[in-house]
Amino acid sequence: MIFEPFKIKNLNFKNRILRSSIGGRTSYYDGTVSSAFKNFEKRFAQNDVAGIISATISVHDKRTSPMEYPKLSDDRFVKPLSEAIKAVHTYDCRYIIQIGDTGGITHTSLFKQKEDSMACSNFFDFAYGYHTRTHEMTLEEIEETINNFAEAGRRVREAGADGLEITASKGYIIHQFLNPGVNARKDKYGGSVDKRFQFLEDIILETKKKVGNDFPIGIRLSSADYNYLPLNIRLPIRFPLKGWYFGNTIKEYLYYAKKLKALGIDYLHIDMGYGFINPKGNPGDFPLHEMKMFYNSNRHLSGKAWIRASLLNIIPEFILNPIMNIGWKYVPGISADYSKLFKEETGLPVIANGGFQERDFIEQTLQSGKADMVAMARPLLANVNLVDIFRQGKNLPDKPCTHCNRCPARTPLSPLGCYDLSRFNSQDEMEEQIMEWSAGSDERLSQNS
Ligand SMILES: Cc1cc2nc3c(=O)[nH]c(=O)nc-3n(C[C@H](O)[C@H](O)[C@H](O)COP(=O)(O)O)c2cc1C
Repeated sequence: MIFEPFKIKNLNFKNRILRSSIGGRTSYYDGTVSSAFKNFEKRFAQNDVAGIISATISVHDKRTSPMEYPKLSDDRFVKPLSEAIKAVHTYDCRYIIQIGDTGGITHTSLFKQKEDSMACSNFFDFAYGYHTRTHEMTLEEIEETINNFAEAGRRVREAGADGLEITASKGYIIHQFLNPGVNARKDKYGGSVDKRFQFLEDIILETKKKVGNDFPIGIRLSSADYNYLPLNIRLPIRFPLKGWYFGNTIKEYLYYAKKLKALGIDYLHIDMGYGFINPKGNPGDFPLHEMKMFYNSNRHLSGKAWIRASLLNIIPEFILNPIMNIGWKYVPGISADYSKLFKEETGLPVIANGGFQERDFIEQTLQSGKADMVAMARPLLANVNLVDIFRQGKNLPDKPCTHCNRCPARTPLSPLGCYDLSRFNSQDEMEEQIMEWSAGSDERLSQNS
């Protein structure tokens, strides 16, 4: 089934493999996409994925996370993005733009700014975001954020994308409102299961007004939050304890999925966990060295960030490693079983995400009706020609992705690429491959030769 076409609304996909969101430092500091962004995206299209879901493109003018990620908070960002989309469209590949807002857990910034702490409520989150504590948004700020999403949605269409995805996952702002572990609001945006959904509902309604009903819209949704993973300290403790400890479970998310269907959403993109990166969303190892680098890079921004970096610097690795690795392990197709429940509950097209790499496993997932499509990030970063490898009948590439998770932890610091040295013959070879990702198009290279 991998090579069977599939349709979502009016979008035709030539096969069932999508490139999942991969963000990195491929834009300028103001959020304008650079030619590195275009070249990076184009390479996946060239290599036969049926569609690409963009990095999380920020709807907020100040919050970009991390830095040099793209933005769609102003009309001036549309044209450069449309050039990148045109490059992808020279191949038979659909381009879906994912929009989002990191809210109170914005990972990093050049300078400390209050905007990076704005969330549904006041809370302290040790692992995510650089601010020591978040700040509860006023109703006016919520309205502004809803409008930011709607305006960014309009720009997605104007840029020539084939579809729009709104991320309600990754612990970003919508996820913060959905999550009972952090949302303590007493107004119409917090409290009951329905009230926590209100923010997302308002975003969808406003966005649809600006984008139109004929434009495909999907939602990236976690299927269960597992708030207790990774080893996290999130305060204050909220009651009931179940909501604070687990977050939303599959039960609440299936309920939300039905509401999303009623709102006219065209597909669901299912992952797991709360926060980026987390062991359910990126099943594999905890990248200790890379997280150390990242936490050190923003330790000047707050007391929490300084303590966090210092602890990782001071505690010996033989103690840190087992603690930080709690909950981290590779699970193939981690969200596939839950994806099936979303399909059954809503009848909507469902994309499963996380831990796919083997051809036979993907085939089985599709054949058993657990998902309609599969989205991959790390395996395609390791082997961009994976679709071709599958077409040749191979189950796995010769040097598969090891799920070491160095690549997502590197995104705030380094160029995009695979950083698992064990997959290369030398450091030079690894760096060469990384630089190739953002290098100019093949046509330009051949013109110069
Ligand atoms: C380098 C890198 C950057 C990522 N950037 C984003 C992002 O901007 N937005 C997002 O929603 N997910 C992002 N992800 C998560 C992936 O889309 C994907 O859900 C995750 O890696 C699990 O899928 P996989 O097992 O196929 O890698 C990123 C992952 C990687 C490896």
